[in-house]
Amino acid sequence: MSKKITRRSFMSTLGAFGAIASFDSADWVFADETAPFMPKKMDALADKPVLTIAHCCDPQFGFGLVADDDKNAYAHDLERFERELDLINASNPDVVFFAGDMCNAKQDLTKDWPRLLKSIDAPVLTAPGNHDIPDPVVKKDVDAFCEVFGAEYASLAINGWKLIVVNSQYCRDTKETELYERQLDWFQKEIASAKEAGTPVILGSHVPPFVATLQEKDEYFNFPTKVRRDYLDYSFDGGCRFYLAGHTHTTLEREYRGVQILNGETTSRNFDKRSYGFRMLKIDAEMNYEWNFVEVEHA
Ligand SMILES: [Fe+2]
Repeated sequence: MSKKITRRSFMSTLGAFGAIASFDSADWVFADETAPFMPKKMDALADKPVLTIAHCCDPQFGFGLVADDDKNAYAHDLERFERELDLINASNPDVVFFAGDMCNAKQDLTKDWPRLLKSIDAPVLTAPGNHDIPDPVVKKDVDAFCEVFGAEYASLAINGWKLIVVNSQYCRDTKETELYERQLDWFQKEIASAKEAGTPVILGSHVPPFVATLQEKDEYFNFPTKVRRDYLDYSFDGGCRFYLAGHTHTTLEREYRGVQILNGETTSRNFDKRSYGFRMLKIDAEMNYEWNFVEVEHA
């Protein structure tokens, strides 16, 4: 059985990254196969993981809470984050994923991040947050982000998986037509090549598709309803099995068609009063996984 995605729905799906786009491929047909493996959460993996990802949300230097007589949130957030980096390097993950909001103020991105990125042993992928490339997206901010982090979206094929990280700031309206069409084209090719190769995908972005339910209303913390389901269906059909995000400053474990949608703790401010820290995602060859909290002590 196959599921046909019409040109209209396909454009709507990819409209998650921009309002209007033109495509040459009018008819996409994706196999609606029963996947041999879907993620299954375990307390502890019985077998050695094939992939480990440090999932780090919203370092957001300058956003953390401080005492009334201490205004230097940036310094405290940075200090906690440097402790987190020590823990990450010591645990030797295959890849580090930052789910955005690297600083609270975009002009601070050049202050410490060039130095910090050099100190990370594993490959790094970074999704821009709304504090890094604010709404609406403008090219000047994209260029400034790329100057520090290398790219506004990127993929990495590693250990039988493909990690695809997108700039979810194109969820919102922007006049930068050329930029969002470029991401659309890139995303389409990345998903298509993963599907063709049969490689499972981990998708990452700053904004999560939804916070509580697929049907929830549009708000600051989610993808717009006009594209949310199509975007998730398109990603699922392309092999997405995990979705890692940030932005909410709350710890969430959600699911859509078996795809695990995960938001972890931050080192800046956790609205749900969780401790500071990050998550280590470990996946074995049968797609069993652990998503364990690693605490970072308060500065
Ligand atoms: Fe944030």
